[in-house]
Amino acid sequence: MIEINLKEFKSKFKKEIDRIEELKQLDTLYRKYLGRKGEINKLFKNLKNFPEKKKKEFGEKLNLIKTEIEKEIQKKAEFIKKKIQQLKLEKEWLDVTRPGKKYEIGHLHPLTIVQREVLEIFQSMGFEVVEGPEVETEWYNFDALNIPRDHPARDMQDTLWIEQKRSLNPKFNFLMRTHTSPVQIRYMEKHNPPLRIVVPGRVFRNERTDATHDVQFYQLEGLMVDEDIQTSHFKAIIEEFLRRFFKKEIKIRLRPSFFPFTEPSFEIDVKEKGKNWMEMIGAGMVHPNVFKAAGLNPKNWQGFAFGIGLDRLAMLKYKINDIRLFYNNDLRFLKQF
Ligand code: PHE
Repeated sequence: MIEINLKEFKSKFKKEIDRIEELKQLDTLYRKYLGRKGEINKLFKNLKNFPEKKKKEFGEKLNLIKTEIEKEIQKKAEFIKKKIQQLKLEKEWLDVTRPGKKYEIGHLHPLTIVQREVLEIFQSMGFEVVEGPEVETEWYNFDALNIPRDHPARDMQDTLWIEQKRSLNPKFNFLMRTHTSPVQIRYMEKHNPPLRIVVPGRVFRNERTDATHDVQFYQLEGLMVDEDIQTSHFKAIIEEFLRRFFKKEIKIRLRPSFFPFTEPSFEIDVKEKGKNWMEMIGAGMVHPNVFKAAGLNPKNWQGFAFGIGLDRLAMLKYKINDIRLFYNNDLRFLKQF
C-alpha cells in the first residue's frame, strides 16, 4: 500500500493552478489530474491495495478531492474567460456619447445652380430642354449656320480643331463646338415647327484667357420658330426671363450686331446700378439660310434665336469679377455657394 498525503497532493495542485494564466495551460492541467491516465485515476487504481476498511474512507476522500479539483478548474476557466472578455472590452471601448465625425457633403457648382434656375424659367414658358454634342462637325458648327469657309466670321470664334487630315467635306471635319448654335440645326432637321427649345452646354474657344474670357464656358442657346414670330416676341421673353432670374429691375439694351445665322442680329447688354454695361446675349431673327440648311422652307417659318453666356449671368448674379474662378476648383470660392 502506498501511503499518500492528500494534503500535500492538494497543495501541489493548488500551487500549479495558481500559476496558470491561459486556457491552454488549464487544459493541460485538467488532463494531468483528471484525464484517463491522470493523477486522480492513478490514485483510484491504487485503492485496490488498501485494506478493506481504509478503502472506503480513502475512496470518499479521493472523490471529494476530485470534485474539488473539478470545481477549481471550472472556476479558473471562468476567471480566465472573464479576464479575456474584460481586456477585449477595454481595448474596444467606445464612448457612444462622443459627437460623431462629420462628413462633408458636396454641393452644386454655382454654374450648375444658375443653369438649373435658367432652365426652369424657360421651361415654365414652354421651352423644351435639348442637348447636343461637344465634339461637333465643321458642318453643324459653321457651314449649316451660314458661316462659309474663309468667311471672316470663322475667325471671330477661334476654333479648337480635332487633329485629323482636313477633308473637303465639312461633315467629316471635327472640332470642339465654339457655340451651342449647331444644335439649332440638329433639332430642326428632326422636328417641325412650331418649336421652342433651350440648349445648355459647354463651348470651347482657342482664346487667351482673361477676367471675362476662358477657353471653355457655358452657353444657353434658345430657339423659337413659328409662322409669325417677330423681334417683339423675343424681347418680351428675354425681359421676362431676366426679371425672373435677377428678381430685380435691371437695365437691358438691344444693340444692332452681326451674326451670319441671324438677320437682323442684335446683342443684349445688361446693366446693374452703378456698374458698366455687360455683354450677355447674342440674338437675332433666324436667317433663311439656316432654315434651308435644316431642311425647312424659310417662306413658311420665322423665328428668333439667342445665345446667353451662362458664366456671365452667374458673374452678374453673384457679383463675381473673374470667370476663371468657376474653373479653378478653389474650395474657398466654391464653398460660398
Ligand atoms: N452663337 C452666338 C455666339 O456664340 C450667339 C448667338 C446665338 C447669336 C443665337 C445669335 C443667335 O456668340
